[in-house]
Amino acid sequence: MKKMILASLLSVLLLGSATAQNYQPTEENLRSRKEFSEDRFGIFIHWGIYSMYAQGEWYLQNAQGINRDEYAKAADAFYPHRFDAKEWVSAIKASGAKYICFTTRHHDSFSMWDTAESDFNIVDATPFKRDVLKELAEECQKQGIALHLYYSHTDWSRDDYPRGRTGRGVVGRNAELMSWDNYYNFMNRQITELLTNYGPIRAIWFDGWWDHEEDATPFDWQLDEQYAMVHQLQPSCLVANNHHVTPFEGEDIQIFERDLPGENSHGLSGQEISRLPLETCQTMNGMWGYKVVDQNYKSAKTLVRYLVSTAAKGANLLLNVGPQPNGVLPEVAVERMKAMGEWMSANGESVYGTVAGDIPQHEWGCTTRKGDKLYVHIFELDQDVLYLPLDCKVVSATALVGGQKIKFDKVNGGILLEVGKLEEDNIDFVVELITK
Ligand code: GLC
Repeated sequence: MKKMILASLLSVLLLGSATAQNYQPTEENLRSRKEFSEDRFGIFIHWGIYSMYAQGEWYLQNAQGINRDEYAKAADAFYPHRFDAKEWVSAIKASGAKYICFTTRHHDSFSMWDTAESDFNIVDATPFKRDVLKELAEECQKQGIALHLYYSHTDWSRDDYPRGRTGRGVVGRNAELMSWDNYYNFMNRQITELLTNYGPIRAIWFDGWWDHEEDATPFDWQLDEQYAMVHQLQPSCLVANNHHVTPFEGEDIQIFERDLPGENSHGLSGQEISRLPLETCQTMNGMWGYKVVDQNYKSAKTLVRYLVSTAAKGANLLLNVGPQPNGVLPEVAVERMKAMGEWMSANGESVYGTVAGDIPQHEWGCTTRKGDKLYVHIFELDQDVLYLPLDCKVVSATALVGGQKIKFDKVNGGILLEVGKLEEDNIDFVVELITK
């Protein structure tokens, strides 16, 4: 028995070191990871010809029975004449977000840049003919905001994509032309374009691995080579994959979808938390791509608290906006971003560059930490005082906004903070504790 345990321990150790040796992030990559983690807040953009149908980005599959060639005709009417990269980037920056993740090609196969690899793209297939990615990338550089690119592994339209568990309702694909090699090389050539022609890309955000997770024989996505290619093309580019499982070799970020790390209310995020930088992606209403009936936007208060709670888990928030088919960001989304930005401009130092705080999330709120500063984020309080269980010594307590001193008493195992009455419209009252 002992021998067996020893043997398995040894193999774990050996295996551990073998995998650790395979992927060694470069200096540039590590720097990029650090910068990413410090940002804490990004805006996700889901935009494509699916926006024309105004039913969310899964319309091609969800409608069941659409012929892919009929669907593709939307491209010929896609003329987002009000698209203005400058306006987008300004509105996004005003939210306090430090990066943008843009959908370059979603599951419906439409490419939002001038790709030579398929005519089904914004320049060749639409009357608009503008490379929106180029305009966005240039504007990001101008306004100093990092750019991440979403890229779908799953494809519901191309003949060569090996069918997975989704996209089955799409009609018109020729199964005889299915070819993994062909599809894989196509993707790699597209990714090469993205990482060659659009300046510095801080991350590639893959999605769709899950399309083959239920295959009887494990599907080989050949991720190792693809990841190595990304890292070779741009060493500082981070690899992220929204596969809903613990990270694979070669990845630099761990993603959680619609849940904070460690929580799982949507059934996609039960996986263990790794030591990589973390990111939670979340919708502002209920859908990623523009959906005409979905006006169910979360309030500014909910969104700020969600952002803060994400930071309190040591993760970034990637909050989604689905632009309209005319190229405009929905008015409510712009308003929400503005409100978040106002809160962030006063309280941002308790979010940017922080790590998870000493006290885990409670009904009253949560905590973040930066060096000797512990930020206490108070959302709700039904009494005047707040008991904080702490191992460290508290030197001072100050309201982050306004700077007034907050009284506190040392008690067994922590402090009692004399918060007083919170304001009626309190979003998050932040108290900065200097600790030793
Ligand atoms: C899911 C969906 C996709 C969306 C993504 C964003 O994987 O398939 O439509 O883009 O989540 O997190």
